[in-house]
Amino acid sequence: MASVIGLNAHRPPPRPGAAVAGHGRSHAKLILFGEHSVVHGHPAIAVPVHAIGAEADAVPVGGALSVSSDDAAITAREGWQDVPVMAIAATLRRLGLPEEGVHASIRSRVPAGRGFGSSAAVAGAIVAAVADLHGAELDRQTRFELVQEAERVAHGNPSGLDARTTVADRAVAFQRGAVREFDIALQGSFVVADTGVHGSTRRAVADVRALLEREPERAETLLDRLGAIAVDAERALRVGDAQATGGMMDESQRILRELGVSSVEIEALVTAATGAGALGAKLSGGGQGGCIVALIGDGDDATAVTEALRAAGAAGIWSVPPAPHPSGTTT
Ligand code: PMV
Repeated sequence: MASVIGLNAHRPPPRPGAAVAGHGRSHAKLILFGEHSVVHGHPAIAVPVHAIGAEADAVPVGGALSVSSDDAAITAREGWQDVPVMAIAATLRRLGLPEEGVHASIRSRVPAGRGFGSSAAVAGAIVAAVADLHGAELDRQTRFELVQEAERVAHGNPSGLDARTTVADRAVAFQRGAVREFDIALQGSFVVADTGVHGSTRRAVADVRALLEREPERAETLLDRLGAIAVDAERALRVGDAQATGGMMDESQRILRELGVSSVEIEALVTAATGAGALGAKLSGGGQGGCIVALIGDGDDATAVTEALRAAGAAGIWSVPPAPHPSGTTT
């Protein structure tokens, strides 16, 4: 494993004579359908959130691989360098280069530990920066594989949905590593609200696995249904059927609650959003904290929903356009 210069390391001086820097960018993701069931081989749907980005610069330095970040929420977490350093190492390895002599500095606007795929976004930016530093063009599949390799260090065995969505331009239908990008015709907007509670995806995934062992029949029925919803939801998103999409978000949330990955805070935000007129609302990502996503119908005013979410204790609120576009807006 590659070595790291101490915690919160600052960028060491460049290697004499080497003036080049590589630059890379990636973005947040939002899971709309199929979290948790995707881990067990069912389909899932996620959208890239281009407006919330992570950037990295890779520079040649003497010595071991190292990383620095401008985001205190990232560097406050023990072992935060593991994924970024592994992203540098995996990319160098793929390029046939020695795993040393590169520093990556990260500027991330992706909230960490909130279901926005912060670590995959950072890894995606680093992979692109290291490739750029060496004048290499990596295709999407290769970038996905390298991000996934880095993610495995910190997250055990992630489904790959995060990694794949951070390298995508359009909505992603994902199952067992296979991916189809598609266009969403839905109008309106998604409102994402933060419970303020840090959710541990690893623990939530382990809890679902424990339930599968304890009550296999019930848990499998719930996971099957989440997978079936993801299939129907892709159809609804493609044709822009907001009512159907909202209904499937509500049903997904009921199932996720039964699987044990909801929380008091998530339920409070979901109830506030639907009570204020959202067409549907559910947790997004690992759950047990993190964010919820609510669907606002076309022409409906999102203000009532955002006010209700704020009153219910939302720690942060973002507006995400349903059809991903590199120039999408957030609030
Ligand atoms: O918590 P996030 O945003 O990394 O999403 C996790 C999604 C899961 O399906 C629960 C896990 C996975 O590996 O896909």
